[in-house]
Amino acid sequence: MKIAVLGATGQTGQYLVNQALQQGHIVTTIVRNPEKLTMHHDNLKVVKADIFSGDTLKSHFKGQDVIMSCLGFPASILSAVTGYTMSMKVMIGAMQEARVNRIITMTSWYTEPNSGTQSSFLIRFLLLPMIRSTLTNMYEMEQFLQKTDDINWTVVRPPGLKNLPASAQEFLTHEGYFVPDSSGQPAGSSVGRGDVARFMLSLLNSNAWVKRGVAMTTK
Ligand SMILES: NC(=O)c1ccc[n+]([C@@H]2O[C@H](COP(=O)([O-])OP(=O)(O)OC[C@H]3O[C@@H](n4cnc5c(N)ncnc54)[C@H](OP(=O)(O)O)[C@@H]3O)[C@@H](O)[C@H]2O)c1
Repeated sequence: MKIAVLGATGQTGQYLVNQALQQGHIVTTIVRNPEKLTMHHDNLKVVKADIFSGDTLKSHFKGQDVIMSCLGFPASILSAVTGYTMSMKVMIGAMQEARVNRIITMTSWYTEPNSGTQSSFLIRFLLLPMIRSTLTNMYEMEQFLQKTDDINWTVVRPPGLKNLPASAQEFLTHEGYFVPDSSGQPAGSSVGRGDVARFMLSLLNSNAWVKRGVAMTTK
């Protein structure tokens, strides 16, 4: 498949690009810092572009089968995070003009404001308040995607990310804001970035999570 990747210079993005190339896909990375991508491959094209410029994105989206995003915008005490909604609105507009209708993007467990009540004390009272601005904007982006009828979107929600390569572990998934174990408690609290990339790429062969948000982790 022809895949355009945003956030390709990030930690998850690099796993995703590597795995996509290994699987034989043709990858165009759309980045602001091309020098951060050190890999070379005959099927890899690196373009420098502004993710907030629809016209620029449109020209790179033309002819792609799918857009994949591992973009990340950290929380700040100075201002609210807006990058998820701003970039997604521009991406969806560019997709509509370029006639690309599939996007797979990532957010996080606990984007819904009340979904963290079952999480551990530390996550609930320390981590979630610290990253609330990021989670809020991710949630707003998820709400925006739910209103885009003509786009086959999937939101992948992982728990805390670790810098680990892809494993062969089975995926656990749930249509919700975290993956519950048999007692309804969150099934773990972290997953390897390589496995998130592996899961996102596995969706290319499946319609299972089209127009849905899926919380995932590994067994
Ligand atoms: N950390 C966690 O435990 C955790 C848990 C669940 C979900 N997540 C979410 O998962 C996603 C991926 O996480 P990650 O740790 O792999 O991300 P990351 O390493 O921080 O990478 C973020 C990517 O977004 C790009 N980006 C940010 N602002 C941009 C802009 N204005 N223009 C163009 N590119 C921009 C970065 O480009 P540059 O390389 O040029 O900066 C980078 O490629 C993020 O949305 C993150 O919030 C994180």
